[in-house]
Amino acid sequence: MTARDDDFTSATGGGPAGPADAGERNLAPGTHSPHAPPSGQPATGRSRPHESARAQVAGAATYIDDIPELRGTLHAAPILSTVAHGVLRGVDTRAALALPGVRGVLLAGDIPGDPVLATFVHDEPIFARDTVEHVGQVVGLVVADSVMQARRAARRVVLDIEPLPAVLDARQAHAVQHYVLPPVVVRRGEPEAALAGAPHRLSGQLEVGGQEHFYLEGQIAYAQPLEQGQWRIHSSTQHPAEVQHWVAHALGLENNAVTVECRRMGGGFGGKETQAGHLAVWAALAANKLRRPVKLRLDRDDDFLITGKRHPFAYDWEAGFDDAGRLAGVKIAMLANCGFSADLSGPVADRAIFHTDNAYHLGDVEIASYRCRTNTQSHTAFRGFGGPQGVILIEAILGEIARHLGLDPLDVRKANLYGTRERNVTHYGMTVEDNILEPLISQLERTSRYRERRERIARWNAGHPVIQRGIAITPVKFGISFTATFFNQAGALVHVFTDGSVQVNHGGTEMGQGLHTKIMQVVADELGVPFERLRCTPTETGKVPNASATAASSGTDLNGRAAQFAARHVRDNLAAFVAGLDGCGAGAVTLRGGQVISPRQTRSFDEVVKAAYANRIQLWSDGFYRTPKIHYDKATLTGRPFYYFSYGAACTEVAIDTLTGESRVLAVDILHDVGTSLNPAIDIGQIEGGYVQGLGWLTTEQLVWNAQGALATHAPSTYKIPATGDIPAHFRVDLWHEANPEDNVGGSKAVGEPPFMLAISAWEALREAVAAARGDGRAPLVAPATAENVLKALQTDASMPG
Ligand code: MTE
Ligand code: HPA
Ligand code: MOS
Repeated sequence: MTARDDDFTSATGGGPAGPADAGERNLAPGTHSPHAPPSGQPATGRSRPHESARAQVAGAATYIDDIPELRGTLHAAPILSTVAHGVLRGVDTRAALALPGVRGVLLAGDIPGDPVLATFVHDEPIFARDTVEHVGQVVGLVVADSVMQARRAARRVVLDIEPLPAVLDARQAHAVQHYVLPPVVVRRGEPEAALAGAPHRLSGQLEVGGQEHFYLEGQIAYAQPLEQGQWRIHSSTQHPAEVQHWVAHALGLENNAVTVECRRMGGGFGGKETQAGHLAVWAALAANKLRRPVKLRLDRDDDFLITGKRHPFAYDWEAGFDDAGRLAGVKIAMLANCGFSADLSGPVADRAIFHTDNAYHLGDVEIASYRCRTNTQSHTAFRGFGGPQGVILIEAILGEIARHLGLDPLDVRKANLYGTRERNVTHYGMTVEDNILEPLISQLERTSRYRERRERIARWNAGHPVIQRGIAITPVKFGISFTATFFNQAGALVHVFTDGSVQVNHGGTEMGQGLHTKIMQVVADELGVPFERLRCTPTETGKVPNASATAASSGTDLNGRAAQFAARHVRDNLAAFVAGLDGCGAGAVTLRGGQVISPRQTRSFDEVVKAAYANRIQLWSDGFYRTPKIHYDKATLTGRPFYYFSYGAACTEVAIDTLTGESRVLAVDILHDVGTSLNPAIDIGQIEGGYVQGLGWLTTEQLVWNAQGALATHAPSTYKIPATGDIPAHFRVDLWHEANPEDNVGGSKAVGEPPFMLAISAWEALREAVAAARGDGRAPLVAPATAENVLKALQTDASMPG
């Protein structure tokens, strides 16, 4: 007997509800007419399509592989280690070199500069040298006339590797103290005493899997040697300035010899924060050796095998609490599987520590964080950047506590929320000043009809032993700012041309998240011109230098403010010019609706620009922004690492088939805080996309390394990201309408990563369903909750730690 479709109808009532009321969604067509009528309405605060949406749909938006190739361009393919750990004794390239079209092979010996990548920790060889450290590590490149010739030849290279014992998971690495970076311990109060004195205690272990980024555009770089030792690199990267630095370092050049450009990525999700740089370095080294432009575009399977993923985590925890489930003390050991090198593992593991509280006051607490070194890909940034791995643990603990005490998990969560005047200091010593958790969760509780549905689900479960349901509300509180404080700076350029049209350039990169669109909206309003007068130009290290990665959800906060300041300088120049003409104060001049309005006269923006140019007024400017207020001590992880928090909550209802372990998400209601939205359509898109990507992490996306350390799930045939069929029939997103209390661009809040963690409500709902099916209040379910893992959770001995 298997589930029928109607068994999966949600408890929201009359079947699948209508589409979410997503607020203003009347998207105006994005035209670029030079004579668009002035709408007079501000550009920000309104839904408008992504600046590239139409070109993307028409196939007219350029990605790196679409750039017309320069004459003589060669193509590279990587030579991969087939062994997880071993001594590299020799590389036999004869068979590869004999194939048609093959122009050469590159190995570690072909690097003119430092053979180690210019990463912070400086622990990663550009090409494997004496040892190999994971299956898929790049030993070298084959370069040929065509991509297929290069790939075929790369498979003919014979590696002589003497295998060594490999460490393949975090617990194994921790047992032998195999770390990429030293452990970090954050401690407050006396957790041992708090645990000993608490009326109740629970302990357990948890395993949470990693995640492949699965950007639709795979990793790619195109290196073009120019005259006099200069270079242009097209890189699908979130961090052009770092790619510039890495390439220069590997070639033994100064940064000023290398220009890196990125018009857009087909998704990054953190996977192109550092690891795009490897491809750029490899392509540049090949171009350097062969004196030809070289393009390196990874095959999807190779991308899986080479690049790092979200860090898999393992945890040991102990919690003490009272009869209401309120925490008195917590002790946690979190083991991050970092792979073979540090990459961004330090800040990722730090952010996991910073988010282990999620929305809750932890009481007396100790968190020990271990950065485990394993013979796998070097794990890296992925949406949430360690935050999800912190949040999921505390949500799992609170769920366990509620089921242990027989309480509604929402009541236990509410009992532990940060207060507004007391119990409002995090375990890292930051006071939570902008707390909206209680009203936000209570509103979602009402609009989702959580309590009523929970009762209905209990009745359903009592009568339907095969299909069991669960529902959960979980909140998110996510800290906004790079934890590496110095990254919180940005620059921009605004150019007004003599015809009144405007170009914006800034240090951020476009990866689909709508950054350019939002920044154009901000600049349009600052200059008082219609959005259609603006274009955003490709991100380029030669325009805005030393830019930070577009990451930590801070792209708009940082670059938007910098661009706003740049536009303000131009605006002020124009206002002063008109004030001089009309004999009024500059403060009396406003720019709005494509017009410049003084108390004496109203002129068109174009007219003023022309006259200003003729009078030698500067029509372009730079802008620079640095986030105020943030500081913290890197050794103890205490201080104010975040400028503010973004909040949200989700209510998810699921059903499981207890015979097959299959599950389905039936209904999702989200209430999320983006401050005053600069563009509701884009923000809602980020919330929906973040949730669904989180759902993939926690349900179907499973990375399996076999006993030899080879990643067995390296293609869409075996690695399952969510598809349209996985989108719940009822999927409602509402925005919390309150401005950011901190002074941030347009009153907005960052949105890129926080919604990812809303999907933890689905995982908690699955645990509720598992507990209901088992009937013993236990839910020994790991993540991802694949069908296999749900079945295991139903069958696991209840005496095992959950
Ligand atoms: N949205 C799309 N469509 N594609 C992406 O690659 N990356 C996410 C998020 N949303 C991503 C995305 C990640 S990991 C981050 S940090 C932010 O976007 C980065 O952009 P922002 O700072 O401009 O929000
Ligand atoms: N988020 C994303 N990327 C980063 C961070 C962060 O906090 N710190 C350094 N790189
Ligand atoms: Mo996002 S993981 O900070 O690139």
